[in-house]
Amino acid sequence: MKISIGSDHGGYELKKELIAHLKEKGYEIIDRGCDSAASCDYPIYANAVCDDIVSKESELGILICGTGIGMSMAANKRDGIRAALCHDTFSAKATREHNDANILCMGARVVGPGLALMIADTFLETDFSNDERHIRRISLIGKGQ
Ligand code: RB5
Repeated sequence: MKISIGSDHGGYELKKELIAHLKEKGYEIIDRGCDSAASCDYPIYANAVCDDIVSKESELGILICGTGIGMSMAANKRDGIRAALCHDTFSAKATREHNDANILCMGARVVGPGLALMIADTFLETDFSNDERHIRRISLIGKGQ
């Protein structure tokens, strides 16, 4: 499976650790930056990973910043993106099964690397349920009255 990953400076160290872990597990990784711990702007990297998902270059994406919040806000503004901010494995599993989330967001200042890797593994290893009620609910997201 091909995965696109992006971070800002707040997530840079965790991103490196996560990429090494996922490559070892056999995932093909596209690293969309950032490329150092120098201060940078998270929406740039959120947009790059979203572009990969929307164009189907990658199946799923992971975005990491200090809190994960900026990344999730930026990603969820994009059509076709369902980004889930998860700091526990229950949410990571549920958001794949129920929301068909296509991007996982995490905050490197919120969770340690051990938990972050488990959350990513859970997210990537869980399939969408394809239940009719979940398909219907996803189709209603973003629809006004
Ligand atoms: C950077 O200091 C921090 O604001 C950023 O990593 C992120 O947490 C924003 O949501």
